[in-house]
Amino acid sequence: MKLLENKTAIITGATRGIGKGIALEFAAQGCNVAFTFNSSVEAAQELEKELAALGVKAKGYQSNAANFDAAQELAKNVLEEFGTIDVLVNNAGITKDNLLMRISETDFDKVIEVNLKSVFNLTKAVVRPMMKQRAGSIINMSSIIGLKGNAGQANYAASKAGIIGFSKSVALELGSRNIRSNVIAPGFIATEMTAKLGEEVIEEYSKAIPLKKMGAPKDIANACVFLASDMSSYITGQTLSVDGGMLT
Ligand SMILES: NC(=O)c1ccc[n+]([C@@H]2O[C@H](COP(=O)([O-])OP(=O)(O)OC[C@H]3O[C@@H](n4cnc5c(N)ncnc54)[C@H](OP(=O)(O)O)[C@@H]3O)[C@@H](O)[C@H]2O)c1
Repeated sequence: MKLLENKTAIITGATRGIGKGIALEFAAQGCNVAFTFNSSVEAAQELEKELAALGVKAKGYQSNAANFDAAQELAKNVLEEFGTIDVLVNNAGITKDNLLMRISETDFDKVIEVNLKSVFNLTKAVVRPMMKQRAGSIINMSSIIGLKGNAGQANYAASKAGIIGFSKSVALELGSRNIRSNVIAPGFIATEMTAKLGEEVIEEYSKAIPLKKMGAPKDIANACVFLASDMSSYITGQTLSVDGGMLT
């Protein structure tokens, strides 16, 4: 028996990086996958095919996670197409790094909207069907930066710390309905987001990680499988660091 057999998950921002890794791992565990993206139409079509080849139902939706109405529409469409929503992975995220002295109001607001408001939007959209089912697992993608802060990332750190407070509150509100809400705090993971930093910086950062390497999307995906599955049925309100020991 696969760990996520007969479940349906919504994964936001899955056309590349960590989200794609989660979608592939969920499908390998028998989960039907409804995933979203912002603009990468071709990558989404490719992923649909890859997931379907793993024998599950899969569909990509172009849906801006920062838009409240789009999240409502998405949940409605997924319910019509898939019948249930058992798992929500709020993964979509962006960076717009700059020192506080230089950061614009627009770049602050944009990161909060895409990284934090999106978590509110999608959670609101799935909570009703999950309450009806009296079951659900919500997994929110924070970051080591949300736990410790980082120079040049005040907007990103604020959004990622906000996710943790939000997620704990949802866990407290919805535990009695058997809806769980947990957070994953990845460390330094090899994706397009971190490739922007350049090879030298990546090498320097990697040396400082106790496990002496960057993480892979699959490392985060494995933790998501655990939190999505019934293996974690007594775990809610928690933040799981998947960071090679960085925050130790
Ligand atoms: N990489 C790391 O080291 C690291 C560490 C800690 C936390 N994280 C977090 O993990 C998550 C994934 O990171 P990643 O490195 O995989 O990022 P990535 O490679 O940049 O991929 C981001 C994904 O999010 C989607 N997306 C962006 N804005 C969106 C929006 N408004 N609505 C819907 N989808 C949107 C993108 O879709 P399009 O292709 O269509 O734009 C893409 O699929 C983020 O929340 C990030 O903050 C990453």
